[in-house]
Amino acid sequence: MADAYDAIVLGAGAAGLMCAAVAGQRGRRVLVVDHADRAGKKILISGGGRCNFTNIGTAPDRFVSANPHFARSALARYTPADFLALVERHGIAWHEKTLGQLFCDGSARQIVDMLLDEAAAGSVETALGHPITAVDHADAQYRVRFGARTISAPSLVVATGGPSIPKMGATGFAYDLARRFGLKVVEPRPALVPLTLGGDELLFRSLSGVAAEVVARAGKAAFREAALFTHHGLSGPAILQASTYWRHGEPIAIDFLPDRGEGWLKALKRETPRATVARTLSAALPDRLAAALGERLAIEGTLADLTDAGLVAAEQRLANWRFNPNGTQGYAKAEVTAGGISTAELSSKTMEARRAPGLYAIGEAVDVTGWLGGYNFQWAWASGWVAGQNV
Ligand code: FDA
Repeated sequence: MADAYDAIVLGAGAAGLMCAAVAGQRGRRVLVVDHADRAGKKILISGGGRCNFTNIGTAPDRFVSANPHFARSALARYTPADFLALVERHGIAWHEKTLGQLFCDGSARQIVDMLLDEAAAGSVETALGHPITAVDHADAQYRVRFGARTISAPSLVVATGGPSIPKMGATGFAYDLARRFGLKVVEPRPALVPLTLGGDELLFRSLSGVAAEVVARAGKAAFREAALFTHHGLSGPAILQASTYWRHGEPIAIDFLPDRGEGWLKALKRETPRATVARTLSAALPDRLAAALGERLAIEGTLADLTDAGLVAAEQRLANWRFNPNGTQGYAKAEVTAGGISTAELSSKTMEARRAPGLYAIGEAVDVTGWLGGYNFQWAWASGWVAGQNV
């Protein structure tokens, strides 16, 4: 005989804990199951251990999805201000770092404890350290088996995230489950992930460790933040952001000197004709980067030695340097997974699957991926809250 609940939540991560707490506090009898032995493991390591728990600049255009409008409703109903109010109610000190990113002053542990306290206030039960061995549906009830137990409920919430960082127990379980219930899955791919360089561009490996503020572009998206050369290729916030929009075979364009207006080299030629090209680039960029770019531009000597047309061509190249990544560092290094359970299958008002009544999907498992900077947690909180209101 199965133990009966009102809702079963699969996954005790950011979205699952939020959903369970909200549903529990509405008087629902809720059980959260997770194969990990601790709740909220990704929250614990997030934001360098301080959890970048939201972004006050949250807006639908900061999320990538096959349907860019899908996230709008949940994001409007549960906002960064709502989550911040919860954080403050729990006495957690926080600060804004940069670009609207809010972090704990202390530790990410405080966010996990807050969610567990909220869940406890809703008498939510948890079953941690249990692989899920079976999920089925009959007579309007979802039945979930783990360990020696079988439990049932009319509502089942899939909150098992995506496969990024498999060594932390991340899996593609949500996609398998969704497909079994007839839901489409948008091809998952690593996102917020470093990009790898090959071929001639391997030479840039010698710049490993060099960082510069740039504008990185992939398709129509552009991000002004730091880029970092690594032993494998390109990383740093600007590149991680662009990686979400990057597709195999496409270039990443980098403006190495976003503050220099058109004609800056020509103007310098008038002011300081005897300055060498190498010196001029070094004044604008980190030394090693300036040397490497100067070498590839194949321009030497003083500014006066070069024609205006040659200087304009150099400027244009520096403002639109094309890298052709041969791949990404994969799920092992990806902060999130883009793609996932198709939003076309879900109600944006409730997160319930249209063709599988009682089945809900929330958080990273869904084809909604935020920018770097607290957006992915805000999506987890908002989608979890919405589902929690409806299960
Ligand atoms: P989440 O991954 O949190 O939870 C899924 C849960 O399901 C886990 O507890 C897992 O154990 C469980 N699970 C998985 N497979 C299962 C299975 N087969 N059976 C049972 N249980 C299973 N975002 C942000 O906004 N700000 C930040 O600072 C950071 N920092 C950051 C750092 C690092 C290193 C990473 C990897 C990621 C971030 N992120 C982030 C992203 C953020 O962590 C992520 O988007 C959310 O945790 C997603 O929340 P979910 O609840 O959807 O999944």
